[in-house]
Amino acid sequence: MYKTTPIPFFKHEYRSLTVLHYQVTRPTILTMAPSISISIINSNSLNIRDFVVNKGHGVKGLAELGLKTLPCQYIQPPQERFDTGTPEAHHNSIPLIDMSTCNDPEVAEAICKAAQKWGFFQIVNHGVPMHVLEDVKDATHKFFGLPAEEKKKYSKEQSVTNNVRYGTSFTPACEKALEWKDYLSLFFVSDDEAASEWPPVCRNQVMEYMKGSEIVVKKLLEILMNGLNVKEIDETKGSNLMGSKRINLNYYPICPNPELTVGVGRHSDVSTLTILLQDDIGGLYVRNTETMKWIHVPPVSGSLVINVGDALQIMSNGKYKSVEHRVSANGSRNRISAPIFVNPKASDIIGPLPEVLQNGEKPLYKHVLYSDYVKHFFRKAHDGKATIEFARA
Ligand code: OGA
Ligand code: NI
Repeated sequence: MYKTTPIPFFKHEYRSLTVLHYQVTRPTILTMAPSISISIINSNSLNIRDFVVNKGHGVKGLAELGLKTLPCQYIQPPQERFDTGTPEAHHNSIPLIDMSTCNDPEVAEAICKAAQKWGFFQIVNHGVPMHVLEDVKDATHKFFGLPAEEKKKYSKEQSVTNNVRYGTSFTPACEKALEWKDYLSLFFVSDDEAASEWPPVCRNQVMEYMKGSEIVVKKLLEILMNGLNVKEIDETKGSNLMGSKRINLNYYPICPNPELTVGVGRHSDVSTLTILLQDDIGGLYVRNTETMKWIHVPPVSGSLVINVGDALQIMSNGKYKSVEHRVSANGSRNRISAPIFVNPKASDIIGPLPEVLQNGEKPLYKHVLYSDYVKHFFRKAHDGKATIEFARA
């Protein structure tokens, strides 16, 4: 399906900022693209990082230039690429849980078991209305469909607030190879701040989605805490579990050589719980911690994907697993996703809960200031399960 022309794996090339093997394959797009694109193409060399990262075109802007081959800046080392040759084990995926009977002990047990074995599960009949999910997906396409100059207003350089951030890849400044993804990240402070600072094309839809998922998030945390012998979520625990929230809107454009790059590299989330809405395209893979194989998370219409993050792994002293996952790039369709990261408050100190250690179990993690933990995560490129070592006892 994809071209097999070998592209040399970067040695030091990623430090070079120009691409000379640049070809235009879809000239019709150029008539729609801003004149800047034409002058860049005429010069027959393009400063990829500058165009994508600094100029705010994102990888979406790059994809729309009609590249025939993947720029070397995006070529991942072989061990990080997706093995497209082996069919994925679609039959053995993460549990699908019906929340309509979430007060049944069997459902609670299924949730706690899934959080222990997989760290991931999908939920249906979760109470978030279908139109809310559809609206946030549409709004995501609308945001990324804005002209680069418009999106750039929310970039690190131009955004009036740190709580709204449009960007690309994960941490471009720290990455040897970039990831094939653009994002808008919205940290929730208050309704008023969201109403005045979040991009108008998506703010109402995102707010509805965030509010609409609150009940099921609380229910899931209540069930998971019960599984740890925590019978009541008091104020401190409430803050540790869900003291802050961040939502990302992710855009994974069509990629010329999806087999050579990644949408998102191997990582685990730093959240307590992540609630992820994905479209019908697929591409999210989860590590099976027993076989170490990558398992696809199949899109299920109307479902939400739930995963345990590092904060909950730490609080549960390793009982609930924050599992490594990654996203492939796609050669034929533009994919979007919208994860809500339910997090401790930045100023919270998190560590294994006393209820978990009551039985004399040894603490695997020390107490850490959550903002230090998050800073550590964002100081480096994605590196699988390495972040949690920061909190190792
Ligand atoms: C993330 C993530 C998965 C996806 O944003 O942390 O893992 O399917 N996203 O986009
Ligand atoms: Ni993730």
